Amino acid sequence: AALVAREAALLVPEYEAKFAALQPEEGRFDFTQFEAIAAWAQHFGKAVRGHALVWHQDLPDWARAAIAEGPRRARAVLDAHYDAVLPRMRARIRDWDVVNEPIANPPGSDVPEPPGNTGDLRDTPWLRALGPDYVAIALRAARERDATLRITLNDYGVEADTPWAEEKRRRLLRLLRGLRQRNVPLDAVGIQGHLQMREPFRPEVFAEFVRQIRALDLQVAITELDVRETRPPVGDFVQRDTAVALRVHAFLSAAFAGGARTVLTWGLSDRWSWLHREEAVALGGGDVHRGLPFDWELNRKQMWRALARAFLGQPAG
Ligand code: XIL
Repeated sequence: AALVAREAALLVPEYEAKFAALQPEEGRFDFTQFEAIAAWAQHFGKAVRGHALVWHQDLPDWARAAIAEGPRRARAVLDAHYDAVLPRMRARIRDWDVVNEPIANPPGSDVPEPPGNTGDLRDTPWLRALGPDYVAIALRAARERDATLRITLNDYGVEADTPWAEEKRRRLLRLLRGLRQRNVPLDAVGIQGHLQMREPFRPEVFAEFVRQIRALDLQVAITELDVRETRPPVGDFVQRDTAVALRVHAFLSAAFAGGARTVLTWGLSDRWSWLHREEAVALGGGDVHRGLPFDWELNRKQMWRALARAFLGQPAG
C-alpha cells in the first residue's frame, strides 16, 4: 500500500470492478471491494479507472446463461448492470473500460478463435446474442447514462512487430473507423501493453499505429503494461532487467511519440502480479517474470528508471 501511495497517481482494480465481482448473482450487487479501493484512492488523492463493463471473461454463470437466451435478455442484462454500476460510481469513476478485448485473435494465436468465426470481432456471449453491433450498443448505453464519462475501448495483442499483431491492429482500426463513421460515442482506446520479450518490437510500427488511432480523434492510454520474459529467461537478474527495461523504454517512447498520454502498469511489483499467479502466463520452472518496476522484495528495478526516462523524453541511458 505504501508503494502504491508513493508511486501511482491513477489506480485500476484488477478484479474488483469486473462483472462477476460486482454482480455475482442476478440483481445482487456487491460494491464492497470496489468502493474500498475507491475510498483508499480518494484518501490518497488518486484517480481510479473502471475495468471492465462488457467483456467475455469474468461473466458469472448466471449472466452467461441469461445473455445466451437472446438479444432482448442480453440487452436487459447489460442495462441492469449499467444502471446499478454507473450512477453509483459516477462521482468517483470518470473513465471506464466499457468494452474490453472485442477484437478476434487472428489465426496463429495461442488462443485461437473457434473455426466458424472469420469476423474482426471475438466470439463472445455478447456477440452471439447481440451481433457485431454489441460494441456500439455497449458504448452508447454508457454515454446515455453519463454524458461526461470518458469511454474507453481496451484491447491487447497489438503491440508487437509480428504478422499476427499487424492483422490485429488492422482489425482494431477497422472497428474504430466504423464506430467513428457512425458517430458512436468513444473517447479513448486502451492498449493493454502486455509485452512479450519473445516477440520482436519495432518502435516506428507501433508509433504509427498510435498515430492512426489519434488521427481518428481518439485518446490513447497504455492500460496494463507489464513484460513476459522468454522461456527460459536469458542471463542473470541484471541482464534480464536490462532487457526488460530497454523494451519498456522503447515501447513507451514510441507510444508517446504516437500521441499516447497515459500509462498504467498492471501492478507494481513482481510479487503481486498475475504474471506469476496465472498459470497461462507464468514463467514456470521456478522462475518469476521480472516484468514490473519493482522486484519481489519491492526494490526498484531498471524498469522503474526506464519508465521515468520515457516520461521525461530521455533516451534509455
Ligand atoms: C487479469 C488479472 O490480473 C488476474 O488477477 C485475473 O485473474 C485475470 O485477469 N487483460 C485484462 C485484465 O483486461 O482484466 C486481465 O487481468 C489481464 C489481461
